[in-house]
Amino acid sequence: MAKLSLVFCVVLCLLNLVIEVTNGLAVPRSSGRTCIIGAGISGLATAKYLQDYGVTNFTVFEATRHIGGTWRFDPHVGVDEDGLPLYTSQYKYLRTNTPRETMEFEEFPFPEGTPSYPSGTCYYKYLKLFTKNYDLYKYIQFRSHVRSVRWNKDRWSLSYHNTETQSDEVASCDYVVLCSGHYSKPRWPKFEGAEAFKGSMIHSHDYKEPEPYRNRRVLLLGAGPSGLDLATHLVNVTQKLVHSHHLVYNQPNFPKNYVKKPDIRAFTTDGVIFVDGSFEQVDDVIFCTGFDFDYPFLDETSGVTVSGKFVLPVYQDIVNIRRPSMMFIGLTQVTITRVLLSQGEYAAAAIAGKFKLPPQEQMLKHWLSKVYYLDSIGKKIVNVNLIGNLQDQYFGNLTSEAGVKRAPPVLTEIRDFNAQIRLDDLLHYRDYDFNITDAFHYDRYYHPVDPNNVPCPIDIDF
Ligand SMILES: Cc1cc2nc3c(=O)[nH]c(=O)nc-3n(C[C@H](O)[C@H](O)[C@H](O)COP(=O)(O)OP(=O)(O)OC[C@H]3O[C@@H](n4cnc5c(N)ncnc54)[C@H](O)[C@@H]3O)c2cc1C
Ligand SMILES: *[C@@H]1O[C@H](CO)[C@@H](O)[C@H](O)[C@H]1NC(C)=O
Ligand SMILES: *[C@@H]1O[C@H](CO)[C@@H](O)[C@H](O)[C@H]1NC(C)=O
Ligand SMILES: *[C@@H]1O[C@H](CO)[C@@H](O)[C@H](O)[C@H]1NC(C)=O
Ligand SMILES: *[C@@H]1O[C@H](CO)[C@@H](O)[C@H](O)[C@H]1NC(C)=O
Repeated sequence: MAKLSLVFCVVLCLLNLVIEVTNGLAVPRSSGRTCIIGAGISGLATAKYLQDYGVTNFTVFEATRHIGGTWRFDPHVGVDEDGLPLYTSQYKYLRTNTPRETMEFEEFPFPEGTPSYPSGTCYYKYLKLFTKNYDLYKYIQFRSHVRSVRWNKDRWSLSYHNTETQSDEVASCDYVVLCSGHYSKPRWPKFEGAEAFKGSMIHSHDYKEPEPYRNRRVLLLGAGPSGLDLATHLVNVTQKLVHSHHLVYNQPNFPKNYVKKPDIRAFTTDGVIFVDGSFEQVDDVIFCTGFDFDYPFLDETSGVTVSGKFVLPVYQDIVNIRRPSMMFIGLTQVTITRVLLSQGEYAAAAIAGKFKLPPQEQMLKHWLSKVYYLDSIGKKIVNVNLIGNLQDQYFGNLTSEAGVKRAPPVLTEIRDFNAQIRLDDLLHYRDYDFNITDAFHYDRYYHPVDPNNVPCPIDIDF
C-alpha cells in the first residue's frame, strides 16, 4: 500500500505538470520537419514507414559513419574512429539469441536459407540490404552527433556536432523521434576492493573476442543474455572460468574448468571473495551487468523523467505525454525486435496524421493503468517500460489505435518458447530452425550449422 501511495504521489505531480502544459502539440502539422536520432534498426524502421506514408521532410541524424547501430562490429574500444563513445556492443562470433523471424520486417524477410539464429554480421548485412532496398540512405546525415534537444517555444531545437567539419550545427524540428538505443552505457555495480584489483576489468560492452582470454583465469559476472553467451564463448578457451551469478536454470555440462559461484562480496588485489566466503584467484574480470538508459542530450524542457532504468511518462512506451511531438522507439524492455518495427510504424502514422493521438489526460490515464497493473503483479515503477507478458496485447493495441500491421500472435509464441528453451538448453537451442505455418502456429525442426560459419545468403559489400 505504501508503494501504491508513492506511485500516486509521483503520478499526481506529473498530472499537474501535464495540465499546465498546453503547447505539447498533439495535432500533427502536415508540413512539419521530423528529426530522427540514430540509424539503428529503430531509426531505419521509422524512416521506412514515414516514406511509406508519403512523408519525406525528415532527416536521420546518425553520430557514426554507419547504419546498423549495435549490430555493427567495431574493433575500437572506448572511443571510435571519430572520438565518439562507442554506440555498439557487438562482438565476434555472436549469433542472435532470438529467432530472426521475430527480428525481421514482414515485408522484407531474410532470404530463404537464412537459419533462424544468424550471426550478428548477417543481421548487420540484412540492415544494410534493407537500407539500400528502400533507398533510405538519402535521408541519413552521418557523422552528426546530437548533443542537445531542447523545447523552444513551439518546436524542438536540436544541436549536433559534425565530426567531419568539426562544426556545431542547429536544426529545428517539429517532431523528434529518439532511436538512439540503450545497450551501450554500461551498468557498473560497485564492489568493495574493486579499485585494488590488479588484473584487467572490463564491461561486456567492451568485449570483442575470446582470444585475449586464452589460458587465463577469468571471472564472468552476471547471467543475463551477455553473461550466458560469453560463458559459452569463453569456457573452452580459458584456463579457468569463474561465473558468479544467481540465475536458476539448467546449467549445461560445462568442462571441469568452469566454476559456478554465488554473488561477489569483495575484490582483493588478485581475486574475488564470494558471499559464501570462498575465494578465487583470477586474472581478468568481465562485468556482464547490463546497460542503463541514457539520453544525455535531453534536458528538463523535454518533460520526461529519465533514470538509468526507466523513462516516464510515455504513452504506449512511444509518446512523450507532456510533449507528444517527441517519440521514443525501442524504449521497451524484454520485447522482440518486431516491437521496435511496429513502434516505428506507429510513430510514422502519428506524424503522417493517419490517426490522432488522444488528449494528454487520456494518455496519462492509459499510462497510469499500466502502472497500476504492474503494481498489481508486484512490479515497481522501475519496470514501467516493461512489456513482458503483455506483448501480444501491445501489438493488438498499436494496430487498433494506429492501424499498424498486426504482428501475428505466433511471434509472441515463438518469443515465449525461445525464452524458456535458452535456459533449458543453452548450448543447443540454436541448432533448430522455426517455420511459421500460420498466424498462430510454427514448427521447429533440427537443423544444426557450424557456429563459426553460419550461412548468410546476403550478398552485399561492406
Ligand atoms: C550484444 C547485443 C546483442 C543483442 N542481441 C539481440 C538479439 O539476438 N535479438 C534481439 O531481438 N535483440 C538483441 N539485442 C538488442 C538490440 O539492441 C536490438 O535488437 C536493436 O538493435 C536496437 O536497435 P536500436 O535502433 O533501437 O538501437 P541501436 O542499434 O543501439 O542504434 C542506435 C543508433 O543511434 C546512434 N546514436 C546514439 N546516440 C546518438 C546521438 N547522440 N546522436 C546521433 N546518433 C546517436 C548510434 O550510433 C546507433 O547507430 C542485442 C543487443 C546487444 C547489445
Ligand atoms: C520541412 O518542414 C519545415 C517546417 O518545419 C519547412 O520550413 C520546410 O520548408 C519543409 N521542407 C520541405 C522540403 O518541405
Ligand atoms: C567445448 O569443447 C568440447 C570438446 O570439443 C565440446 O564438446 C563442447 O561443446 C565445447 N563447449 C562449448 C560451450 O563450446
Ligand atoms: C491495451 O489497451 C487496453 C484498453 O485501452 C488497456 O486496458 C491495456 O492495458 C492495453 N495493453 C497494453 C499492453 O498496453
Ligand atoms: C514450412 O511450412 C510450409 C507450410 O507452411 C511447408 O510447405 C514447408 O515445407 C515447411 N518447411 C520446412 C523446412 O519444414
